[in-house]
This record gives sequence, C-alpha cells and structure tokens, in this order.
Amino acid sequence: MIHTPVLLNEAIEALQVKLGGQYVDCTVGEGGHATAVLEHGGRVLGIDTDPQAIKHARATLLPYGKKAILINEDFTNLADICSRLGFEPVSGILFDLGMSSFQLADAKRGFSFQHEAPLNMCFNPSQEFTAATIVNTFPEDELAATVVRAVGKRGRIHPATRTFQALRIAVNRELERLKVALKQALHVLEVGGRLVVITFHSLEDRLVKDFFRRESQDCLCPPRTPVCICGHHATLKLIVKGVVAPSRSEIQANPRSRSAKMRVAERI
Ligand SMILES: C[S@@+](CC[C@H](N)C(=O)[O-])C[C@H]1O[C@@H](n2cnc3c(N)ncnc32)[C@H](O)[C@@H]1O
Repeated sequence: MIHTPVLLNEAIEALQVKLGGQYVDCTVGEGGHATAVLEHGGRVLGIDTDPQAIKHARATLLPYGKKAILINEDFTNLADICSRLGFEPVSGILFDLGMSSFQLADAKRGFSFQHEAPLNMCFNPSQEFTAATIVNTFPEDELAATVVRAVGKRGRIHPATRTFQALRIAVNRELERLKVALKQALHVLEVGGRLVVITFHSLEDRLVKDFFRRESQDCLCPPRTPVCICGHHATLKLIVKGVVAPSRSEIQANPRSRSAKMRVAERI
C-alpha cells in the first residue's frame, strides 16, 4: 500500500521551499512530502524512528542522490542530529504526525484492529514497551483514563479506531515526544524559517496550538501584572491564523486525510 501524503501542496507552499534551501522532514515515512521538497529544489534531511520507513524512503529518494540524507532516529533528537550532520542552517521543518500506510497494513505491527495480531503498535519496533504491556499490566482505572482521553464521544468513527489510536498515542509517548521536538525546532530553524505541523487528532493539535500561541507572544505574565516579570520574547510569527484543513476533494480521494489539521509559523 503506497502512502498518499496529506496536504501535500499546502505543506510545500507553507515551507516556502527555495532552491538549495535545507529542510528537515521529522517524519519522513515513505518519503512523499520529502520528494515534493526535493522536486522544488530543496535539500532534505529525513528522520524516522522506524527502520522500515527509512528503507522505503531510501528507495523513493534514491534518484535525488546526496540531496537527501536519511537517518533512523527519534525526532526528539532533532537538534543533536542537525548539529552532528552539519545540516545547518535549516529553512524549514515539517512534522506529518501519525502513521504511514505501510505500518497500518503490516499485520504483525499490530496497528490495525482489522488484523489478528499481537498488540505491538510501536513506531520503533525495537522498543520493549508495547500496547500489550499497557493492556496487560496497567491498572483498570489508568487504562480507562488512557482511552477516555482520546476516544471522546464523536460520531461515525468506529469506537475501536479511537481506542487503538489512544493505545498508540500512549505506547509511543506521542504528545511528550512532540513537545520535546517542537522546542528543539525553535533552536534549529534559521530566522525566517518555517515550522509546519500536520496533526491527526485533537490532543496533538491542541498541543501545537498552545505551543504556537505561547511562542508568538512577547510576554506571558498573567493579564493584570503591571510590569512584565517573565521576560519572554516571541520566537514565532503565526503565518496561518487557525488551521489549514484538507479540501473536500482531498478527503474524497484519501479518507485518511479527513482529520488532518496543519499549522504554520515562521521563526523570528
Ligand atoms: C504519517 S507518516 C509520514 C508520512 C510521510 N510524510 C510521507 O509522505 O510518506 C508518520 C511517520 O512518523 C514516524 N514517527 C512517529 N513518531 C516518530 C518519532 N518520535 N520520531 C521519528 N519518527 C516518528 C512514523 O514512524 C511514520 O513513519
């Protein structure tokens, strides 16, 4: 199953890809977004915690030779990876969160409730803490809280979809890792560089929204503080107020895109 990149044109436009510019794709997956960046004349550093994804991306990006560098690591090491590889300055950073189609389709990875398989669900298959660990060892109330956080009450989506998503978020510590990586993105991006984040569920989107809001403000003191005592300075300018969502035709062609939301900011 080939992964169809979500919000592809919108993400490339938001990154403002320029000839010879350097871009980090923190979730390179099967290389869909990375290919488009390369086609627009950029160089790409692609990161993915899943060695299988790196294998796919390596095959996809082969025609671009040294313009594409791939590394099998967690994006929480973003700053260290860029400095180790001398990949600086960075003109844009992309996060396209969630999972790749090949991960969902591979029964033994345990991401889908449509296959009979062990509950693994780790983006990094060498991780020992799996969804089975959670289901079999967490006390009942903690398990219930983990699911309720992500399941909510919404409409037509199969409840198992959200339950599996909740487990996946917990196993991969997705929110915690995203928080760490977003902070590092601020250090890595050059002034004028773009930060583009595509999320697929409201917990992730809220985290990105709060981070962008905080980092686009000069002072974070409580409203009635007479003089600023926090000394915070804005590091980001919001390029899109709110979110960019997929068009109706994209959702029709690729139903997986239905819950995507993209936020865009610029390093100042
Ligand atoms: C939606 S896919 C990316 C698809 C890609 N944009 C494309 O067009 O082919 C998300 C990818 O992020 C990877 N990923 C998830 N958490 C990660 C983390 N903490 N560090 C690095 N990669 C991660 C997953 O393994 C998966 O391959």
